[in-house]
Amino acid sequence: MVAEEWRHADRCAAVVEVLGGEPVVALPSLPAVPEHEDADPLEAVLRNVISVSCLSETVAVALIDAERRSAGPPALQRLLAEILADEVGHARFGWRLLEELAPSLSPTLRERLGDYLVIALDELATHELSHLPARASPSAAAEAIGVCDGHAARRLFFATVQEVIVPGLQASGLPALSAWRAAQATGTWAGAMRGGRPLARAS
Ligand SMILES: [Fe+2]
Ligand SMILES: [Fe+2]
Repeated sequence: MVAEEWRHADRCAAVVEVLGGEPVVALPSLPAVPEHEDADPLEAVLRNVISVSCLSETVAVALIDAERRSAGPPALQRLLAEILADEVGHARFGWRLLEELAPSLSPTLRERLGDYLVIALDELATHELSHLPARASPSAAAEAIGVCDGHAARRLFFATVQEVIVPGLQASGLPALSAWRAAQATGTWAGAMRGGRPLARAS
């Protein structure tokens, strides 16, 4: 999966180059995967797999598929289809593991994972909305090659959480619905759900 993500970066850099840009950016700092010292090894792994596969990668599948559908040039559509296939694999990894382990999770562990989900869903919304500016595609030219409409992308993000992620986690016995409600109650981003003002946070 790591190799696939590196390949995505490489292919996206090639697109920037073809479009006349210079595909050079500073590498952002990559924080270490959390070790969750307050949790036993099973809970720690589940927290990370839920956060990465069931949350982030599942959102990536929805957003990249929307971009693939609206991409103009066929070469871009093909590239996005390739990336999409990898992201589906990254998301399925987590959903399958969770489905397999779900019957053996104790009520205490389910409850603890529910507490974790409040934080993870808040983080997910904060992160995604900071990358999805609440504005239309920047220009007609950008729109023609498939640069997404930020408003539509935000709606798709919330629909993915509410119609795919939360029900999927609930089906594995995790209290995801109450966690999502709690995250909305505390998250500074919740106004964005009702089409409210853009986040103060830079996007
Ligand atoms: Fe990726
Ligand atoms: Fe991925």
